[in-house]
Amino acid sequence: MTIKEKYGPLALIAGASEGIGGAYARQLASAGIDLILIARRKNPLELFAAELTTSYGINTICIQEDLAAPDAATRIMDQIKGHEINLFVYNAGNSYIGRFEEKEWQVHQEIAFTNMLTPLHLVHSLAPAMLAKGKGAIILMASLAGFQGTPFIATYAATKAFDQILAESLWYEWKNRGVDVLACCAGATSSPNFLNTNPGKQHFLAPKVQTPEEVVTECLKRLGKTPSFITGRANKIASFFMQRVLSRKKAITTMGDTTVKMYRI
Ligand SMILES: NC(=O)c1ccc[n+]([C@@H]2O[C@H](COP(=O)([O-])OP(=O)(O)OC[C@H]3O[C@@H](n4cnc5c(N)ncnc54)[C@H](OP(=O)(O)O)[C@@H]3O)[C@@H](O)[C@H]2O)c1
Repeated sequence: MTIKEKYGPLALIAGASEGIGGAYARQLASAGIDLILIARRKNPLELFAAELTTSYGINTICIQEDLAAPDAATRIMDQIKGHEINLFVYNAGNSYIGRFEEKEWQVHQEIAFTNMLTPLHLVHSLAPAMLAKGKGAIILMASLAGFQGTPFIATYAATKAFDQILAESLWYEWKNRGVDVLACCAGATSSPNFLNTNPGKQHFLAPKVQTPEEVVTECLKRLGKTPSFITGRANKIASFFMQRVLSRKKAITTMGDTTVKMYRI
């Protein structure tokens, strides 16, 4: 069965105009799946959607929305009323890099909404129809940063742990009801967002930075097969070392030391 037969004909991607979200959009479009695409910046989103329509002959709907807004999920659900969505990808993520106490409360709150509360609300709103039909898939983007405390991106790391645990829990609840849930735990990936953080030279033992296309190809292959997975062989090995070989204290310290070096904190 193709991905379109299994989860089509229409997918909703939150955070879809570039980076990993752009790669989801392109790969699903190339499978013939129509798309509802969400991002904050209208122009790049509409240009990208038009390009997907021309290249793959699919239909697209663009929604300009800030997923950090407390009522974003309500507004999105209003706009997609009447559409049957069986595949939902929550891609957008938000973070600061630096000292927790130096960031205003609003920064932490926006991260919590973008990474945690808006996806929670959308999953809660979209899942009942999928369960009623016994057909659906939900992908939440998680991160290696959420596997242990990750200093200087503390709020981000905590929200990514939330995404992973939510997806894994729902995977079990819905696995015999036709709805596949997956947490995609990525490591460093060369999206514009990651490159804009201007990361310094990585340690020579650090896993190679993946491309968004690599992450998405692997994720779509794992969908329906597992509750969560780590993208890329090198990330899997690094994660095994961090979780199984090092003590928790040492793993957190390693993450902190690496972030200090990478971002010259
Ligand atoms: N890149 C990495 O190294 C890495 C590593 C591990 C995990 N991840 C996870 O992978 C996911 C994707 O990361 P990414 O690096 O591709 O960048 P991203 O900034 O999370 O996603 C880029 C896309 O999301 C949209 N977006 C971002 N914030 C939004 C908001 N508040 N409201 C609406 N749309 C928003 C962007 O368009 P607009 O800017 O126009 O809104 C763009 O289309 C995230 O959840 C991230 O935590 C990434």
